[in-house]
Amino acid sequence: MTLNTDYRTKTCGELRLEDAGREVTLVGWVQRVRKMGGMTFIDLRDRYGITQLVLSEGDKDFELANTLGREWVLQATGKVMERSSKNSNIPTGDIEIIVDRLNVLNKSLTPPFTIEENTDGGDDLRMKYRYLDLRRASVRRNLELRHRMTILIRNFLDSQKFIEVETPFLIGSTPEGARDFVVPSRMNPGQFYALPQSPQTLKQLLMVAGFDRYFQIVKCFRDEDLRADRQPEFTQVDCEMSFVNQDDIINMFEEMARYLFREVRGVELPKLRQMPWAEAMRLYGSDKPDLRFGMEFVELKDLFAKYPGFGVFDEAKYIGGICAKGCASYTRKQLDQLTDFVKRPQIGAKGMVYARVQDDGSVKSSVDKFYSQEALAELKTAMGAEAGDLILILSGEDTMKTRKQLCELRLEMGNQLGLRDKDKFECLWIIDFPLFEWSDEEQRLMSTHHPFTMPNPDDIPLLDSDPAKVRAKAYDFVCNGVELGGGSLRIHNPELQAKMFEVLGFTPEKAQAQFGFLMNAFKYGAPPHAGLAYGLDRWVSIMAGLDSIRDCIAFPKNNSGRDVMLDAPAPLDDVQLDELQLKVDLKQE
Ligand code: AMO
Repeated sequence: MTLNTDYRTKTCGELRLEDAGREVTLVGWVQRVRKMGGMTFIDLRDRYGITQLVLSEGDKDFELANTLGREWVLQATGKVMERSSKNSNIPTGDIEIIVDRLNVLNKSLTPPFTIEENTDGGDDLRMKYRYLDLRRASVRRNLELRHRMTILIRNFLDSQKFIEVETPFLIGSTPEGARDFVVPSRMNPGQFYALPQSPQTLKQLLMVAGFDRYFQIVKCFRDEDLRADRQPEFTQVDCEMSFVNQDDIINMFEEMARYLFREVRGVELPKLRQMPWAEAMRLYGSDKPDLRFGMEFVELKDLFAKYPGFGVFDEAKYIGGICAKGCASYTRKQLDQLTDFVKRPQIGAKGMVYARVQDDGSVKSSVDKFYSQEALAELKTAMGAEAGDLILILSGEDTMKTRKQLCELRLEMGNQLGLRDKDKFECLWIIDFPLFEWSDEEQRLMSTHHPFTMPNPDDIPLLDSDPAKVRAKAYDFVCNGVELGGGSLRIHNPELQAKMFEVLGFTPEKAQAQFGFLMNAFKYGAPPHAGLAYGLDRWVSIMAGLDSIRDCIAFPKNNSGRDVMLDAPAPLDDVQLDELQLKVDLKQE
């Protein structure tokens, strides 16, 4: 690395014992000043590390050293010396700088929180002063990892002849998918652009243009409710290929995943399994199952149907159980807490039934009065439970909803039992998604992925008779219960695309108005094509073991979609509104 020697000759992270005796100049921020007797110790920090500076009473700049505050910007010149009491916690811990000259380059207000690994700053405060938060090594390391991963990704895709092409951010609104963020057009009063939820249609047009292999590391914008793994603007590694089938795509992006895990974590991924969506829902109640642990669902409706008497189970359409190994010792209080957990409004179960397998093999359950030991023994066998195990059961009228509730319970048990180790990675592909899903909100079928997804050719006859049963040629890449990517084979035939719009409830006019550009393009020799987008933020946070993707984004939004540092969004002033010929008249709720 070439340093600007006017300011510094070394960084705060590079000096070692071998450098003892050298004259050096460092610059950085004051992490801490400690005064001990006639000596003052300064921890000087830059992006590369921390180096200890020492001044003694009588030194020219000793008085100055005693006036320094946290986060002042400092230049120090002095000699590298071996330390008498070494600090093995930092790479520069064997040495210190005996300072000749100190030069204050800038003062700082006292920061509102300490710039240390375990800072005392709450989330809002740290976000408001994100530039200070970013001085913390842990946050910076996440961004360094992100940088490294984007380089690896570009290298991999370049080696596979992918071309990076930029696509516009100001595009038209599409009604499918999440909500769009919109931007008013001054030159076209009363008209709006939309920011892309993904470059989906544009990358398909690049395939029509013959680009064959495209990628882009690109911002996507979605106005949806936020969660730990969702931001309103996030980054995709967006890819598309021509003349490929599903196996080609899966192999290519599995290879990329293998390359990233090897380079970043030193982990060798095995050949990944491909699990049909229906199986994932049946065994884990999720299209992104966490396979770091088992605890698969066992369906119990048929078993309990043989022993009527307990109204809740008799009336349920679905009954499913999980077996928590060695948890029969759970106390009543712990079980009540689990019941409260599944009854939380976000999860929505009505209650939970449990059964403990005792040391003697007999079963003691919360529904003993409704079931004979014979029935409970059958339950035990069905669940594969042994002495010391705990069986947890949920039931409900809606199979999918109940499975999702049981999924939450399974993940909670995984957490409680420490089975979700962040240094263990279990990746898989989910395939055979349903092409459509029912929307309660819209009261119609919607695309599970997007309207350009190819139906499974075997299921095309069902498009008219039973569209809800049609499977898609779509696939998701899942790791540790997180959807890290997804894609599909695309429709490249204008008639089939028109049929899709029809099933989705578009009139031909509306389909033409919204997607005419794509359907027209398909009339000019569209190649068979397919693609996938990986979520970069999620990839980085999985690799870094983060709880939230926010921690690998330099300037993230909070859960209300606000940037608290920039105080955005905010009202526009009248001049701007006038230019746009807009009047804000908020509808009263
Ligand atoms: P999809 O909508 O599945 O597919 O998105 C692809 C991947 O992007 C990530 N992702 C997100 N990450 C953070 N915050 C969000 N709000 C967010 N939403 C999605 C996920 C997801 O797997 N055009 C298609 C891809 C294709 O078919 O080629 C698409 O956007 O990791």
